Amino acid sequence: MSGEPLRDPGVDQAAISDEGLLDAHERALGRQHHEDGARYRLLPIGILFVLSGLVLFAGTYLNRYTGHYSALVFNENAKPSMNMAPKVDPLAVGRAQFKAVCITCHQESGLGLPGIYPPLAGSEWANGPADRVVRIVLYGLKGPVHVAGKEFSATAMPVFGQVPGSAYNWSDEKIAAVLTFVRQEWGNKAPAITADEVSAIRKAVGARKEMTEAELLEVK
Ligand code: HEC
Repeated sequence: MSGEPLRDPGVDQAAISDEGLLDAHERALGRQHHEDGARYRLLPIGILFVLSGLVLFAGTYLNRYTGHYSALVFNENAKPSMNMAPKVDPLAVGRAQFKAVCITCHQESGLGLPGIYPPLAGSEWANGPADRVVRIVLYGLKGPVHVAGKEFSATAMPVFGQVPGSAYNWSDEKIAAVLTFVRQEWGNKAPAITADEVSAIRKAVGARKEMTEAELLEVK
């Protein structure tokens, strides 16, 4: 081992002391930092406002015009689902009403009971003018009445409308629905009846006792 410490030949060549080298690095690094700092300037505050405004606008726009990304808003082929109010089918409502009440007398077959309850299937009243059949259900009917060539007078047809003395107080909608069902069931083929038609007749006729066959025949 020689007494001379090992020396970096490069340092020898540069002929510079350790302090000098550190100094030089420090200065170089210092300048470097200084130059980096000079390149990043503070964003002008105006641009920040403009960007914030854009974000606010975009958010508001999406919130307002995207329909909360519902498939029903964007997809014209969407199937009705829970978040769409179910469409009420008057025929279904009418069928339910018939099965709840009318069926007791006029029977599921719509044929009634011979000599007691007249048939609705093929009946000239059920399939006849709306102005007559609506009156029958709104105000009731007291026989004798002739249906499909047979006379009925054993009991009376109850009062269903929202009229004084009504046993059922059915809304105009319910009456329209049940009659629409009756006019299209068992091979019957008469036009549907709307709640508006029922309302108009109820308001025009007002309060009265049961209809009779003679009175109904005067209604065209
Ligand atoms: C309690 C038995 C009873 C119920 C319930 C009843 N009806 Fe009647 N309905 C009769 C009777 C009885 C007649 C015939 C009148 C008579 O004999 O005095 C009649 C007559 C009719 C007529 C005219 C004659 C015909 O056969 O076409 C129609 C239309 C009619 N009912 C529809 C209905 C509808 C719709 C309902 C249900 C909303 C209903 N009825 C509920 C007993 C009933």
